Amino acid sequence: MAWTDQIDRVLFTREQIAARVDELARQVRHDYCSLNPTLIGILTGSFVFMADLLRRLDFDLQVDFMAVSSYEDGTASSGKVRITKDLDRDVAGKHVLIVEDIIDTGQTLKQLTGVLADRGPASVRLCCLLDKPSRRVAEISADYTGFTIPDAFVVGYGLDYAQAYRHLPYIAVLKPQGD
Ligand code: IMP
Repeated sequence: MAWTDQIDRVLFTREQIAARVDELARQVRHDYCSLNPTLIGILTGSFVFMADLLRRLDFDLQVDFMAVSSYEDGTASSGKVRITKDLDRDVAGKHVLIVEDIIDTGQTLKQLTGVLADRGPASVRLCCLLDKPSRRVAEISADYTGFTIPDAFVVGYGLDYAQAYRHLPYIAVLKPQGD
């Protein structure tokens, strides 16, 4: 069985992603070019998007990363997140742009934006490549969104299923498990 056999269909090709990241970079440049912002990538899923986005930004900025894991409560996620890798730099007084792969229920980002807001930044905004609004539980929305997608499990371009598929250059929908 080929390693791509579990892929149902391509949702966004590498060309579609590149064109959309170009547009997002233009918006971010317009809003942040004189602010020397700190872009914070949420590991691991954002690393490909972050790398592509920031190479399109030709002004002063800093890059930092955070990693979080959700506390599991039996089988269901409790909605609480634990920071497993914190920022290397203080963000007090800085303009923070969180760069994330996807907002699903929104619980992770709701908590993270709260944690970062408590550190005294000048501003906190959110740039997400993908948004699955149909599954939202927490009240949160992105300031910059790449694509709004239906309720399907997607992989590729940094997003994984059990740590696999992150290196796909496109975004694909996985076949329902059990097929
Ligand atoms: P939330 O707290 O439910 O919004 O979860 C966000 C996190 O869940 C993302 O950062 C991803 O790591 C993961 N996630 C949610 N949906 C998907 C998906 O369709 N594919 C891969 N990871 C996903």
